[in-house]
Amino acid sequence: MKTQILDLHDLDNPLIQQELKRKLTQGSLVIFPTETVYGIGGYACLEEAAQSIYAVKGRPSDNPLIVHLARFDQIERYAYIDHPDVYTLAKAFWPGPMTLVLRKNDTIPMSVTGGLSTIAIRIPSHPVARTLLEVTNLPLAAPSANLSGKPSSTTFAHVMSDFNGKVEVIIDGGDVPIGLESTVIDMTQDIPSILRPGSITQVMIEQVLKRPVLDESDLKNGGIPKSPGMKYKHYAPLAEMTLVRGNPDAVIAFLKEESLRNQGLAIIGPTEIVSHLNQSSIIDLGSLSDLNTIGKNLFSSFRQLDELHVNRAYIVALSDEGLGKAIMNRVLKAVNHHVIDVD
Ligand code: TXA
Ligand code: MG
Repeated sequence: MKTQILDLHDLDNPLIQQELKRKLTQGSLVIFPTETVYGIGGYACLEEAAQSIYAVKGRPSDNPLIVHLARFDQIERYAYIDHPDVYTLAKAFWPGPMTLVLRKNDTIPMSVTGGLSTIAIRIPSHPVARTLLEVTNLPLAAPSANLSGKPSSTTFAHVMSDFNGKVEVIIDGGDVPIGLESTVIDMTQDIPSILRPGSITQVMIEQVLKRPVLDESDLKNGGIPKSPGMKYKHYAPLAEMTLVRGNPDAVIAFLKEESLRNQGLAIIGPTEIVSHLNQSSIIDLGSLSDLNTIGKNLFSSFRQLDELHVNRAYIVALSDEGLGKAIMNRVLKAVNHHVIDVD
């Protein structure tokens, strides 16, 4: 298949708008940037579109998709708003990097929601995503645009490397601004519960709701994962990667020693740590004083690591505070919980 490449400017063209709507209603897939990561979108009311998404990603079909909408008033076509906090959260964080899990009605096929009676809904803020949703006026089911087992795509180049020739349309929006997937919050219980941490943090949610919420994103809590996505290891680097935790001096000393012992070693970490190391395979995530940049660079760093073709890698742990929670959630999955504490 020859993939058509578009950009935001093309979305102003009424002929292209009609074409996109026609393609989507016939089951084609369109990859588009959002403020978090690129998404691979299909018409959410169409069983075949969901099947194509699962097939092209190579993703198990029990992992439900997020349905993206242009506006809040569209939600009740697909879901029940039976929790008052939905309005408060929507007012505070939509359009933006938040996904709410609600009870679904029968409009969206079960294959989109992986057989669940609930549905994840998001109203994105990225101009391309917004324009696409508005001009097609369709609900778009869209998981992150990466092959299953690869990190989510945060640049046009990532998307091209995974999907060029495999989908009908790719919309180029350059690098995405956030780089970590949206915060997923379960709104089907009395107390809202975070199923996946993102750039909208627990503290931000609690400030807006003026009461505590739960965080069930941590797999270590045991039990059955509430969000099916939590049980999958999202990204398996080619190298055997281990997380290093400890105070900065101990971490630096440990990494220096390990580099001497193993030439084929790569290290991913913040500037404050990796600037003390002088070996070749270093991936600098950015300064600890700017966690947003570290979040934005994380998935790219995973892809860079694979390109280095080393057999072992260490990634330096960050604090769990604020955005650090979302970053460390992705890192812990990538190292498959292999951790070394050095102090
Ligand atoms: O930022 C994002 O959310 C990106 C962009 C494209 O919007 N999308 C994304 O989709 O990350 P995906 O499919 O890679 O992740 C969706 C997550 C998974 O962890 C999935 O299990 C969870 O949301 N999820 C979806 N529907 C759910 C439901 N009904 N109940 C609980 N969790 C659900
Ligand atoms: Mg994903």
